[in-house]
This record gives sequence, structure tokens and C-alpha cells, in this order.
Amino acid sequence: MCGIVGYIGAKDAKDILLNGLEKLEYRGYDSAGIYVMSNEQRGHLFKEKGRIAALKDRVDHSVEANAGIGHTRWATHGEPSVRNAHPHQSTSERFTIVHNGVIENYQEVRDAYLEDIELVSDTDTEIIVQLIAWFAEEEGLATLDAFKKAIVALEGSYAIALIDNTNPDIVYAAKNKSPLLLGKGDGFNVICSDAMAMIKETNQFVELMDKEVAIVSKDSLSIENYAGDVIERDHYIAELDSDDLEKGTYPYYMLKEIDEQPAVMRKLVLKYQDENDHLSIDPKIIDTLLASDRVYIIAAGTSYHAGLVGKKLIEEVAQIPTEVHVSSEFGYNTPLLSEKPFFIFISQSGETADSRQVLVKTNEMKLPSLTVTNVAGSTLSRESDFTLLLHAGPEIAVASTKAYTAQIAVLAILAEVAGLKKGTIKESTLIHDLGIVANAMQTLVDDKDRIEELASEYLSISRNAFYIGRGMDYHVSLEAALKLKEISYVQTEGFAAGELKHGTIALIEDGTPVIAIVTEGKVAGHTRGNLQETKARGAHTMVISMDGLNRPDDQIVIPKVNPLLSPLVSVIPTQLLSYFCSLHRGNDVDKPRNLAKSVTVE
Ligand code: G6P
Repeated sequence: MCGIVGYIGAKDAKDILLNGLEKLEYRGYDSAGIYVMSNEQRGHLFKEKGRIAALKDRVDHSVEANAGIGHTRWATHGEPSVRNAHPHQSTSERFTIVHNGVIENYQEVRDAYLEDIELVSDTDTEIIVQLIAWFAEEEGLATLDAFKKAIVALEGSYAIALIDNTNPDIVYAAKNKSPLLLGKGDGFNVICSDAMAMIKETNQFVELMDKEVAIVSKDSLSIENYAGDVIERDHYIAELDSDDLEKGTYPYYMLKEIDEQPAVMRKLVLKYQDENDHLSIDPKIIDTLLASDRVYIIAAGTSYHAGLVGKKLIEEVAQIPTEVHVSSEFGYNTPLLSEKPFFIFISQSGETADSRQVLVKTNEMKLPSLTVTNVAGSTLSRESDFTLLLHAGPEIAVASTKAYTAQIAVLAILAEVAGLKKGTIKESTLIHDLGIVANAMQTLVDDKDRIEELASEYLSISRNAFYIGRGMDYHVSLEAALKLKEISYVQTEGFAAGELKHGTIALIEDGTPVIAIVTEGKVAGHTRGNLQETKARGAHTMVISMDGLNRPDDQIVIPKVNPLLSPLVSVIPTQLLSYFCSLHRGNDVDKPRNLAKSVTVE
């Protein structure tokens, strides 16, 4: 959601900014823009609604520039339009900024300082740049002081890059809550929302922390706090392979990422194995977990669905009571906590503002926390006590696939290592079981033609659909339904199979697709019964069952795996059904409408 890039150095800033913005496309956006300072010290602003490709067409490629800032915008204040797209400028056009985040007190700031200024956009961002200009031009402050004074007046979240066209040898940056990195190069420096945007230019990054300002020129990069104290911080090397960011021969990232899941399972086993080939997790994490009386899993979207499976794993294997909460609800309606809670934040991006807002509160309460994330150095990772990485490689498609299965696998490893230490399980079987899972996943991803046919038969024209299941199959139904909604726009509900008859069955009409997931022996008969109830009312039914529980006319049979790990496998055909449904409908599979990958606003 929204992305920032900035560059200052000898190369052509335009191309670097545009390439960087393309790398940030995955985060979700609906307009984009760049501002560059030409070698003749003239500022050029280019903005466009829609895709970066449209922005590229709009840019005057004859302009040679060696400094600039760029932005992808996901609309919050004001519709997606050229007028509301970033960068935004002060009335004098001296100051130009890009901004991620939401300024909560923008109306108050406007009333206090900017009543006489005619605004040209509906954005909260324009308030920031006008305020900087006001302090510089009305109060005569130097640019850095005006910048600091302006951001101190702001409430909310922001990552900002600023150019003052009277001194274009410097790009300023600041952040609070929204992520921003500084990248170091030889004769140039960069600014970006995440390392992927600039990995082609450099792999050396310095984190900017909340309430810090960066002063970036082509040869230097310095950080200070708002009081002016200089902060020394070492760079880290981003371990990103720029090849991982390409989709190669795949038509869409989502398909590539679905296909990568067997390899991710195998990689996770290697990453979490010790020298004796046993699964291993930092003992401090295990001791803190085992010292707790209750686990609270906090997450959003797909990660929340992985958390539901994680609860079952932690309760069954390590026998610690576990609750799972949607982060946006938990933060403001916190339930009564146990005496010794342990918080697990699950987040592919590690940036989700809803989850971070809970972490800020649990940190204030000094409660122990673990983040399970795909992004080393992400905000949630930095701010929690412990991190377990997903090692899934960059996930670019907005709809999460390999991160979901990696999250479940990491939680399974956590539960097993804790269970062995606690003595609630006697022997380790997970390495073997995850190997079988990887093979089962492979069988399913190799069966794409069959799943494509089923997608055409069941989902090509329907406006709504249902996934049903019980227990773990219910949890997978929720994820399967979300996937179908996200990319195909078919209104889909994931439902507890037994609950359907208590009202929602009224929605079943002739031809309504109802897909049952059946991997749990003890409830298989019941789920099949519930499916029959829908069939009797006209539903077009499909069954995804596990080998051993299957019946002759089941449409998809997944290979047999440890039932506790069945979601890792049963979810695969549902991901593929969503993919093909979206593809057949002509949607942009990787960039579904209205969605953002990294949701950095509450
Ligand atoms: C967004 C994405 C979802 C994702 C959710 C949580 O809404 O579109 O795919 O599941 O955020 O993201 P996280 O990075 O915290 O897992």
C-alpha cells in the first residue's frame, strides 16, 4: 500500500525511480508519480492515474535528472486521480513531497496554519507540504528546521521524502510508523519503502526509525532525531536476489508462488534444522512460550487464517491454550488477558498497521512477543522480542499463497519443538511429515489442467460460491473463500459446514457452487451430509477430500498427509481454482482491484 522511492546521484534518476516504482507495484496502488530535478536545476513533475506503464508514457524522457522522488498511491483521502496523486507541491512549487500513511489531525493543522492557502488536492499530504512551506517562507526557517517543525505538528503515520528546489542536492526523509529505508551506494544514495524497490541499485540499507530525519545527498547520508542529535547506525545487507523478483516464464506471480510451495516446505526444514538434523528454534523463544499460560495470535487477512490453523497445532502438540484474534479488533476491544500471555504476530509483510498497533500496546504492557514474518527487518520483526522467518522468498502477488503455507509450517515447527521440550509429544515426526506434505503439494500443482477444467465448470459464470468444512477444513474454507473473493470478485463465503443450515442455506439456488473440504475422518460423514443438504436445494457441489476418506465421485482427492497438516495440502487446489477463475474472467490476477499487499494504514 503506497510506496516511496528517492534517488540522488550521477545516474538518470527518472529510470531508477520508475523501475523502483514498478518493484513496489505489488504493494497495491491506483496512481503514481515522480518529481525529478533536471541537470539544469529545474523541477519536473509527472503524475498519472492507473498503472506505472501509463506514468512511463507521460514522463518526458528527454529530461536528464540526477535527483528525484516517486510514489505509488493507494487512495485514502480523496479519489484516485492525477490531482490527488503524489508528489504534492507547495503553492510556490519550492517544496515537493511524497508521503505514505495517514495524517489524523490534518484538518486541525489546516485550520491552525493554512486557512488562507488554496489547496489543489483532497489529500492529507498536501497539508504537510504546505505546512513545510509556511514555516520556511512565513517564519523564515531553514528547510530542515521547517521540515522538522511541520512533522512535529502532525499526528498519525507517515513516511515522507522531501525536495526543496532551492537546494536540490539534498533529499530529506522522515518517518513515523510507516516504513522507510535508506540505501547506500557509491556516488549515490536512495530512499525506499522496501529493499525490493532498490535492490538493483544497492544491497546496503540503513533503517530509519520512528521520529528520525534523514538528510541524503549523493555522497552522504546522515540521520538525526527531531532534537538534532546525530544518530549513527550501521547498514545491513539485504539478502534479496533480484532474480526472485522476476516472474520468469510464468504469466503471473501468483502461479509462480503457488508452484514454489513444495520447495518452500523443504527449505523451511533445512532452515530450522540444527547440526544434528533436528528441528530447532531459539531456546529463548521456546522457554518464553512454555512459561506462558496462554498464547494470543494476532493477525489480519490470510495470516489470520494461518493463525486459526496455528491455534490447533499449538493446542494439540504443545498443549497451551491459544486464542486467535483479528488485529484490527483486538487493539481496541482487548479481551481480558491471562496472567502470563505470549503474543504471536503473524504477518507476511511485517508491516500491517492493524497488527503493529496491537504490538505497540503489548510492548507498553511489557508482554513477550514473537513475530512470524517473511520480511527480515520489517517493523513488526524489529519491534517484537523474537522473530521466526518464513523463508518463502518475496511474495509479489497481492493474494497470499506461499506465505500462508509457510506460516502454518513455521507454527507447526514451533509447536513441535515446544511440545518435545514440554514432553507433550514423545517423538519428532515433523521433518518426515513436511516431506510428505511437499510431495503431496507437488502432485496437486502438477494437476493444473484438471483444476482449470473444474474452475471453468464450476466458477466461470457464478456470482457467488461457498466453501464448507469442519475443524481444520473450516479454517481452510475461510482462506479458500478469501482467495476466490480477492482475485475473481466472486462473492464467496467460507462456512462451518454444520452451521450452514442455520440460516445461510437460504442463499443456495440452482447452480450455486458449494465446495466441501473433507480431510478429517471424525467429521467427514457430517460434512458430506451438509453438502447433500445443499445439493438437494440445487447446489452444484464439489468435494476436495483426502485419500482414504474419498468416495468415487469426489472431484479432487489430495494425497494422505498427517491430518494436523492437511491445510497445507487441501488449500492448494483452492488457490488454483481461484487463480484459474480470475484468469478466465480476464482479471489482473496479481493486482486485484482495490487491494493492497502491504496495508500500512489502520
Ligand atoms: C492485506 C493483503 C492480504 C494479507 C493481509 C495481511 O489485506 O491483501 O493478502 O493477508 O493484508 O497482511 P500481512 O502482511 O500482515 O500478512
